Amino acid sequence: MSEQHTSRQCRGYAAKGVDLVTKHNRTIDWVLYNRAEWFISPETRHLFYGTIRHHQALVDLVSPLLDKPLRDKDSVVYSLMLVGAYQLKVADTPAHAAINETVNATRTISRPWSRGLVNAVLRKVTSLDIKPDQSFGHAHWLVHLMTQAWPGECIDILSANSLRAPMALRINSILTTRAQYLERLFEVGIQAGQGLAEQSLILNHPQPSITLPGWVEGEVAVQDMGAQFAAPLMLLPAAESSACRSTGSNPATRILDACAAPGGKLAHLIELSTATAAEADDNSSLPEVVAIDINPDRVAQTETILARLGHACQLAVGDACTLSWWDRKPFDRILLDAPCSGTGTIRRHPDIKLLLKEPAIAEHAVLQLQMLNNLWQTLAPGGTLLYCTCSLLPQENDGVISQFIEQPGNDAKVCSIDLPTGHATQHGWQLLPTDPNTDGFYYARLQKVA
Ligand SMILES: C[S@@+](CC[C@H](N)C(=O)[O-])C[C@H]1O[C@@H](n2cnc3c(N)ncnc32)[C@H](O)[C@@H]1O
Repeated sequence: MSEQHTSRQCRGYAAKGVDLVTKHNRTIDWVLYNRAEWFISPETRHLFYGTIRHHQALVDLVSPLLDKPLRDKDSVVYSLMLVGAYQLKVADTPAHAAINETVNATRTISRPWSRGLVNAVLRKVTSLDIKPDQSFGHAHWLVHLMTQAWPGECIDILSANSLRAPMALRINSILTTRAQYLERLFEVGIQAGQGLAEQSLILNHPQPSITLPGWVEGEVAVQDMGAQFAAPLMLLPAAESSACRSTGSNPATRILDACAAPGGKLAHLIELSTATAAEADDNSSLPEVVAIDINPDRVAQTETILARLGHACQLAVGDACTLSWWDRKPFDRILLDAPCSGTGTIRRHPDIKLLLKEPAIAEHAVLQLQMLNNLWQTLAPGGTLLYCTCSLLPQENDGVISQFIEQPGNDAKVCSIDLPTGHATQHGWQLLPTDPNTDGFYYARLQKVA
């Protein structure tokens, strides 16, 4: 196989990828992993992500131009038209090149008969004066929920979801400091600056992680900046609120990460507690860290990630909705990084715009409350639980916490949170993708009244 594909092939493979996401409900990650041979050229990846990111707007543009919908078995032809429309109306590719190469790509998708049709539709697209898409490719129900949740910020959030996410790093504080690592980046010509989380760096330009200095040695990991507030919030004494103020002491002795895979927050927790114990020159203050996740493949992936960083903990497959994995020894810190809609990470995973359906929000909330109720039983009196999602929707955030604490006999007290960016909410703290260098995250801290 040659190193790069031709322009025609790039367009054809991007269309095949788009078709798998939109017609066969595959995620972007699935397509990139299982059809890796289609994506050897950066151009294909660009066209694929771009078309998914602006999918709804492109559909609104192209669909009225078709006399009749294409047959299901030819949906890839429609996806190719969207890839063409993306080049013409979003990427500003010169019309001549965009149309010719896209029409030629009908061979790559094995539909040479559709040349004339694709050509005719794309020529009509060039002549259209499109209006700006106020929904930025989000489904109408999602725009409605976002508007209810963030009336002042909604348009900016929807627009931010259509941009590329920054690449943030977390330095491994057992092996290096942020200043030392920043120096190493500069030495190899990689420009970066400090993020608001203490171990974070933001690269000026994203690049493959393997090319980062000290990657193989585990000096650094890729992790969104907002996700890097979880570990310091976990280790805070209940009465403190700022994840950026070091207390110098770490009162946690037994920690649970209940939805741990792929282990970003878990690794950070291990790094912070190990570095704190080393600073105090007291290995006996190292907490015992237990981690579970329901998905065996993701647990295996977590093991690999921890191994690169040189970390170990008690990691197992387990269901946070049951107690079958629990040895009956209570935890004094619990992280519940709950499965959620992912609406705070749409710019990183634009396929969420297409694959997420409205009923999923209520279903997530039911599961989140169930997990919270179940894990609460494993928390020691006086201990704290950090609830976290990467959702922007209060239904999965404050709404779940409200339901939890309003249950009869509930013994939880809400602890305050104060982060250097983001927004205080009724019970916790919300980071938005419009805040600097972060995805959308929600955090709430609950203490079990002793
Ligand atoms: C948001 S991700 C966690 C990300 C992780 N904490 C990190 O920082 O890398 C949610 C995880 O919850 C897991 N999960 C879903 N249902 C679960 C359950 N019932 N019990 C335990 N884990 C579950 C999923 O497999 C997924 O890995």
